[in-house]
Amino acid sequence: METSTVAGHAWMRLAACYFAAAVLLGVYMGASGDIRWYPVHAHIALLGWVSMGLFSWAVSAWPSLSEGRMAKVQFWLYNVSLPVMMLSLAGKIAGITAVEPVLGISSVTTALAVLLFVYGVLTRLGR
Ligand code: HEM
Repeated sequence: METSTVAGHAWMRLAACYFAAAVLLGVYMGASGDIRWYPVHAHIALLGWVSMGLFSWAVSAWPSLSEGRMAKVQFWLYNVSLPVMMLSLAGKIAGITAVEPVLGISSVTTALAVLLFVYGVLTRLGR
């Protein structure tokens, strides 16, 4: 299989898992009335389902985005940083202040992974 097809499938499978997690947390919040978790829900939905779904679509539409070391670094940086960021955000909401440095670092590394994607889009489309 082409690299872009493999990458597209990987991003979409992960996106679908985040979609499930987001709606389950949404249903939990709605049913329990405990809406404290809405920042986790919203970020899982938008950085997980929506953004990863768009990464999947982008690497499938423009295979050059999935090639080379930068694409691999972007994939792994994003997929390690986002779950750490979501768990530490949940920890902060639960009142565990010790997770705050982890939340800070994982927020920055998630943002770096997004910037790598943006750099790829700006420099590789049309190659
Ligand atoms: C079954 C599906 C879903 C359920 C049951 C659900 C439920 C909820 C609930 C209970 C809240 C808290 C509302 C409040 O602050 O009073 C919320 C907030 C939010 N949800 Fe969902 N949600 C669902 C799907 C989604 C999806 C698919 C997205 C985005 C792609 C999304 C994005 C957001 C955002 C951005 C907020 C924060 C809004 C704000 O506080 O202004 N949700 N959701």
